[in-house]
Amino acid sequence: MVRSKLPGKLRVKFILLAGLMLLASDLAAKEEMDYQGLPPGAGVDLVLENCTACHSTDIIRKNHMSREAWDKTITWMQEKQGLWELGKDRQIILDYLSKAQGVEKNKAVGRRNNPMYEFDYKPNPL
Ligand code: HEC
Repeated sequence: MVRSKLPGKLRVKFILLAGLMLLASDLAAKEEMDYQGLPPGAGVDLVLENCTACHSTDIIRKNHMSREAWDKTITWMQEKQGLWELGKDRQIILDYLSKAQGVEKNKAVGRRNNPMYEFDYKPNPL
């Protein structure tokens, strides 16, 4: 009697375990969808591909610049920090950065608008 019950219990455990694993993989997939904190948009995949090898997205997220300033930053990283040539992806990356991390977004972030805080400085993200 005891023996015949065991496989049934095991099966329930197995189903529970499989369910947990499915849930875990679902959560992991959602995490990937959030673009490491960058806003979604055309070109975000190229930014993740090319811009997270040496530092995290934090340094990108805390910078809000015009297209020209982003362009200069990329050139600076290419000349001084070993960033590779981006080819035609450079324009797509610049389109994304000047939109998602442009200057006009600067005013909208968090407590920058709150007069209680005189400064908005974040810890070194590296
Ligand atoms: C080959 C390595 C490398 C890659 C790839 C790279 N960076 Fe950088 N980046 C650096 C280094 C090194 C710094 C300087 C970090 C520091 O200030 O300590 C930096 C700094 C920055 C800064 C801050 C600049 C400043 O004025 O303080 C921004 C913004 C930035 N990177 C954006 C990007 C973007 C966007 C890309 C993709 C196009 C990218 N990085 C790819 C190496 C890299």
